[in-house]
Amino acid sequence: MVDNTFQDEGRTGTSRRRFMEATGGIGLSAALSGYLSDEPRREKRPSERVRALVGEMSLQEKIGQMTQVAAYEVDDDPKAFFERYQPGSLMYATTADPLQLAEDINELLDAAIEAQPHDVPFVFGIDAVHGNNNLDGATIFPHNHGVGATWNEEYARRMAEHTSKTLRATGTHWTFSPVADIQRDPRWGRFYEGFSEDPYLASRMVAEKVRGYERTENGYKSAGATVKHFAGYSEPRHGDDRTPALIPYRTFRHTHLPPFHAGISAGAETVMVNSGSVNGVPAHASEELLQTILRDTLGFEGMVVSDWHDFYRMVEVHEYVADVKDAVRLGIDAGIDMYMVPAAGIESDTVDTYQRHLRNLVESGEISMDRIDDAVTNVLAFKEALGLFENPYADPQRASEIVGGARELAYEIATDSMTLLKNDGTLPFDPKVGTVLVTGPSADDVANMMGGWTLGWQGVGETLPPAVTPLDGIKGIVSDSTEVVHEPTGLYTFDNEAAVRKAASDADAVVAVLGEGPYAEEHGDIDTLGLPDAQRELVRTLDSVGTPHAGVLFAGRPRGTRVFDRLPAAVMAYLPGTMGGAAVADVVFGNVSPSGRLPFTWPAGTGQLLNVHNLYPPELFGTGETPPTSTQEPTFPFGHGLSYTEFTYADLRVEPSTLPEASANERINVSVRVTNSGDRSGDHVIPVYAHRRHGAIASPMTEVLGVDRVSLDPGESTRVIVKASVNQLATVPGDVFSKSKLRVLPGDYAISVGEWDEEQTLTVR
Ligand code: NOJ
Repeated sequence: MVDNTFQDEGRTGTSRRRFMEATGGIGLSAALSGYLSDEPRREKRPSERVRALVGEMSLQEKIGQMTQVAAYEVDDDPKAFFERYQPGSLMYATTADPLQLAEDINELLDAAIEAQPHDVPFVFGIDAVHGNNNLDGATIFPHNHGVGATWNEEYARRMAEHTSKTLRATGTHWTFSPVADIQRDPRWGRFYEGFSEDPYLASRMVAEKVRGYERTENGYKSAGATVKHFAGYSEPRHGDDRTPALIPYRTFRHTHLPPFHAGISAGAETVMVNSGSVNGVPAHASEELLQTILRDTLGFEGMVVSDWHDFYRMVEVHEYVADVKDAVRLGIDAGIDMYMVPAAGIESDTVDTYQRHLRNLVESGEISMDRIDDAVTNVLAFKEALGLFENPYADPQRASEIVGGARELAYEIATDSMTLLKNDGTLPFDPKVGTVLVTGPSADDVANMMGGWTLGWQGVGETLPPAVTPLDGIKGIVSDSTEVVHEPTGLYTFDNEAAVRKAASDADAVVAVLGEGPYAEEHGDIDTLGLPDAQRELVRTLDSVGTPHAGVLFAGRPRGTRVFDRLPAAVMAYLPGTMGGAAVADVVFGNVSPSGRLPFTWPAGTGQLLNVHNLYPPELFGTGETPPTSTQEPTFPFGHGLSYTEFTYADLRVEPSTLPEASANERINVSVRVTNSGDRSGDHVIPVYAHRRHGAIASPMTEVLGVDRVSLDPGESTRVIVKASVNQLATVPGDVFSKSKLRVLPGDYAISVGEWDEEQTLTVR
């Protein structure tokens, strides 16, 4: 029994999350329900319509439904193209102009439906991952790692809801988002696409992003979501994209899978497969991943799409099979329902070769008709859920009404993500300061604040999305008498040292906006976490001048190591998107007290990787005789984030404090009195952590069980009650290579909150 007797005691602060939960705005347990049990595969119940279509379709039509091509491949004669290939899906925008896109897709739909013997429309998919980032004028939201830093999954849902409206208004039905890959290794170029290294936090975010995309409109889902990349993609052994991952089952099950499970439980219509190999088997060929785990254990009933040319990759990258035909056989048999085959340039893997191979494999009996029918059923059921049989078309007029909206939301998310890493009192700067120097490579650079996947795979080109840069933001909030001086520097070049030195000496405050340029996928792989030399030089210069200076980082990962020694104050701004500069200015000049917390560990360098908060103990290596450089102590720990005010904790309670193992799916109340003991108002995120003290197998050093957020005025105090998920502690019991079912192991768990070292015990019996 959960004791609620103290629910109303002394609560004077506000909590958006609690309000949302109380009013039903957030599903409390759906995201993680069933976490402990392996759900048996449910009987798929396709509608009459889908069943009839599958019964009537020719093999050519069925193979068509299992094919996804790029819209740019449709040539001058769309009718002939559609008659020939009957593609079940098109991908990638034909244009960045929202209105034109809606019109183009409507026209393509006309041709496709006319060519399809059963009038089945295609489903149009696109990577809209932080807003509808393919469209001119679209509002760009922070990338997922920044959303993770807010610890507020409501934001994930709201940004996805807006994106979903823009998708459907522009003729697109499906986004290849959200990423459910857990953050493990910041060398990996896709780190920023994930929400967190913690399975609880990532799961909550993924589930809400799915719900946002798949909002209901006119009785159907307005867009389909994809949880990707199933699974184990984010821990390549060398940190390089699409290189082998070696993951123990216990880690895979406990750490990697929960965000996928959460997205699936939230209703995700589709899952995209990991392009890499896991423990020696390419995910695209793994029946264990795609059947046993995805279907039988996680209960996924939707459609499985491959990633980009991954049958070809089985031959050319993984050296797993000798030819693409064999890869098609393995992949379709393992459970892939739709193949993404969009690049015309790969001769051995075109839409032609794929469809021919598949036909031959079916005709020779190497792939069963049952498997084909199963795949086509999944594709058609997906289209039905989106209402495409009723109306696949866009109303182009809506495109201009919706695209470019939700700026206020983009500002709120960016602001709540800002994470104060370090501060000796330098920040906040006074908006009435005489002269402020704004310098660094990203002070006025739109591309750098957006990151990859923004009007281009590798980030923005010539056309820029709407954006407030830090320079704009700072000019907008300082006093009329403040002079704002801008002295840009390069990401990799610092050839204006003299000018920067002079400007810094003449200024009263300096904001240096540092970090990374945009990148995506393998182009973002790195082997050092240090900032480029040029930026370190810049910071050294500022340090030697001595004017109060603060660093702001736009980066897709924890980037910067020893540079913090020379920065008296630093803010992690992630990749904040359109409103990033306004959020930065408000935090740096004190309109807002920062409340973001790192959703990942900030390692002190690549030498100590992997360094994540949920590894097994011991926490520190190399104490005693070993030189301090070999310690595992990170630059900033998971959950770190300072404020301009001070929050103190008292009276931690865990209720109930004893729980039978059989009740581990219930939540417990972890409550603590939080007081704003500083002298200004502020928001504060209160994570609840747990760690099992000892037991049959080691327990991760910390795991998040829940979180709440309060806004408190100076002197104000409130009792915060977090409904904490005990099932998050479930692990795979047994010896080194055990594959047993998840269990919350009996034992004593130390429960703590925030940075407070006080612990209370939860006993699971
Ligand atoms: C390859 C990427 O791995 C995947 O995340 C993306 O959705 C597809 N390309 C489509 O662009």
